[in-house]
Amino acid sequence: MKNTIKINKKINSFKKEIEVPGDKSISIRCVLLGSQAIGVTKIYNLLESEDVINSLKCIKKLGINYKKFRDFYKIYGLGLSGFNTDKKILLDAGNSGTLARLILGLLINSKNWIKIKGDKSLSKRDFKRIIDPLKLFGANINSNKTGLPVNIVGSDYLRPIDYHEKLGSAQCKSAVMLAALKTPGITKIKAKKSRNHTELLYKNLNIPIKIKKKLNHDFIEVKGISNFKGFSYKIPGDISSCSFFIVLALLTQNSRLVIKNVNINSTRIGIIKILNKMNAKIKFINKRKYKGEIIADIIVNNRKELRGINCPKNLNSSAIDEFLIIFLVAAKARGISKFKNLGELNKKESPRLDIGVNLLKKIGIKVLRYKENIIIHGDPKLELKGKYRISNFRKDHRVFMTSCIAALSFGGEWIIEDKDSIKTSFPSFFKIIKKLGKRIN
Ligand code: S3P
Repeated sequence: MKNTIKINKKINSFKKEIEVPGDKSISIRCVLLGSQAIGVTKIYNLLESEDVINSLKCIKKLGINYKKFRDFYKIYGLGLSGFNTDKKILLDAGNSGTLARLILGLLINSKNWIKIKGDKSLSKRDFKRIIDPLKLFGANINSNKTGLPVNIVGSDYLRPIDYHEKLGSAQCKSAVMLAALKTPGITKIKAKKSRNHTELLYKNLNIPIKIKKKLNHDFIEVKGISNFKGFSYKIPGDISSCSFFIVLALLTQNSRLVIKNVNINSTRIGIIKILNKMNAKIKFINKRKYKGEIIADIIVNNRKELRGINCPKNLNSSAIDEFLIIFLVAAKARGISKFKNLGELNKKESPRLDIGVNLLKKIGIKVLRYKENIIIHGDPKLELKGKYRISNFRKDHRVFMTSCIAALSFGGEWIIEDKDSIKTSFPSFFKIIKKLGKRIN
């Protein structure tokens, strides 16, 4: 069947060096910030996936030009008041929560009503979390209950806010930080720890920002400004895309993998900390700093002695997009793994906690669930022989790729639907699997 893949055999052992495409979070932030700068922004290694292409299309609809060159994109920003919002506009954020939420932050000074819609999956997600703080700035927002479509019209009388971000959502924090840029005065944010790419970009662009780090929260102050200049940025590899191959190498006999030029920002490497607590022995080499981010090469070897983990919940936010793939390692580890407070997983492109539990049960792993907590009974001898069909996952790219890795690591006969879902974040996923030795599409 079209748009479906079959995998009937595990991958053979491999020893390879690969590179993954640019980080999705940073790609979207660079496009949006480039659209607000004065003058040209040059972005190298921009991730060319649907979420990022939709970001480019949205700024274009708002009157900002961009051009693709051989190895970079140029964005011709017109400043913080440069969006052309004189008429009603409809923006399509596709599947991307990051795009929809962050661009709302940039529309708090729009002159006319702007409508943002998304695909089926995005339309089911919670936007109240971002509508509430943006209304406090003075913007007018209407929505379909708590989700998309959302209509926003800005205000000429924006006022800075005091905002407490309690979910550990970098999207909410960043949307408020973007709105703060356009708002005279100082916006104060107390944010539960989450990825900090927006903060690092602000520092790098000399946008006035103060950050005080405490154990579980960051206190951030952003001062509204009148303009900032275009910039140049080379986007490092996405650790979330690496995670699939890290786990494949870890679970495949006699395999070794080097992944070059990956962003190992401490707010993103929860997966490495968690897997290393499970005895994975993953290493970083060639560490260097780039505009506040830290980049390194990652080395992973196959490990036979993986053990269960009582996962500290303070690692949840830095591994938020990686839990599905981490569950596969827990399935093969010796002993019990416990994961707590994973409610936010059900707020993603699909209800990932429910889907992860069902996937593990489907492959015969004992899983106990109590509300937002799960216990996985690992089986170091896990080898599959049955037939498995994976469908109805709201075309969630990470569910699709996790299922492929389960098939390639554990065996069995798999049919996995919606292969197009990889276009959201990782269009070259199959190419890299092929480089590791297996053709699957
Ligand atoms: C992202 C933040 C996270 C993450 C998403 C990307 C970002 O979402 O799951 O894939 O770029 O800020 P939340 O902020 O909703 O946790």
